[in-house]
Amino acid sequence: MQMTRTQLTDEIDVSRLIYGMWRLIDDGDDSPKTVQAKLEACLEQQITTMDQADIYGDYGSEAAFGKMLAQAPHLKDKIEIITKCDICLISDKHPDHRVKFYDTSAEYITAQVDNSLTLMGVEKIDVLLLHRPDLMMDHHDTGRALDRLVEDGKVGGIGVSNFKPWDISLLQSAMHTPICTNQIEISLSAHHAFTNGDIAFCQEHQIVPMAWSPLGGGTLMTGQNTELSQMLNDMATEFGTSPAAVAIAWLLAHPSGILPVMGSNNLERIAGFSDALSITLDRQSWYQLYTAALGHEVP
Ligand SMILES: NC(=O)c1ccc[n+]([C@@H]2O[C@H](COP(=O)([O-])OP(=O)(O)OC[C@H]3O[C@@H](n4cnc5c(N)ncnc54)[C@H](OP(=O)(O)O)[C@@H]3O)[C@@H](O)[C@H]2O)c1
Repeated sequence: MQMTRTQLTDEIDVSRLIYGMWRLIDDGDDSPKTVQAKLEACLEQQITTMDQADIYGDYGSEAAFGKMLAQAPHLKDKIEIITKCDICLISDKHPDHRVKFYDTSAEYITAQVDNSLTLMGVEKIDVLLLHRPDLMMDHHDTGRALDRLVEDGKVGGIGVSNFKPWDISLLQSAMHTPICTNQIEISLSAHHAFTNGDIAFCQEHQIVPMAWSPLGGGTLMTGQNTELSQMLNDMATEFGTSPAAVAIAWLLAHPSGILPVMGSNNLERIAGFSDALSITLDRQSWYQLYTAALGHEVP
């Protein structure tokens, strides 16, 4: 099945499925060989967009990815990189952090972007996301810094993550660069974004939603909701595919153009990511899954 692409801005397009690197080195193997195998398994399906963050792998995922790219530099031209900043973790790597906090100051985000560029060994980050809304954000300071990063060519586009509509409006009011995406939790086990205005706001403002943990971090597959699991299994049998592919197809079917950010360290599962693209769920099938997820019929 041909991977489709989604235009985030006039200049930036990304693959319909995105590979998330949060857990990339959680399997204890950060070797370039293993990281490259995961990337190649994505590229074979035309999944070219990689989702990173400065904090992933306790500040180690970007470095592992960069080490691999240094050994296989030809791959740099085949991918788009999303990365994020503003969460500051308590970590051995940052003995100065006394508490987990957010930092959207111009100084901090500019330094983090420089650091991400160095660690991954690339000249530009295709899309930079603010990872979480910072309660202390000075939107003028942050907005100016984000515009500057784009003007300086260090970043292609700007997005946000876990932002509420009012957080987006506030930041956008202080910057010229259009906020092109909001990466939020959306799945059959976390479907509040469909009804709390998060997705509606994206649709109204031509912001493309990205879905993090689209399989509920794997919990959807481990059958905690037996009615939903049964339905995913039944539909998977009907379509000749896997329950995970049906759960992703449920996101893909929504008219907002949700981009699922897929996470797996299992090469076989990665190779099956694009199976979701071959499934077309009609409106009633979509509501059947939603009903099972809710545990009751819609009002
Ligand atoms: N912006 C944010 O705040 C934020 C927050 C969380 C995540 N994210 C992004 O979203 C990406 C995806 O998140 P996620 O990893 O939670 O996604 P997910 O696809 O919901 O969950 C992936 C997890 O489910 C497991 N899994 C997949 N298929 C399975 C199956 N059939 N049976 C049992 N387990 C299965 C995987 O294990 P295996 O490795 O064994 O396949 C992996 O541990 C992250 O990498 C990150 O890029 C962003």
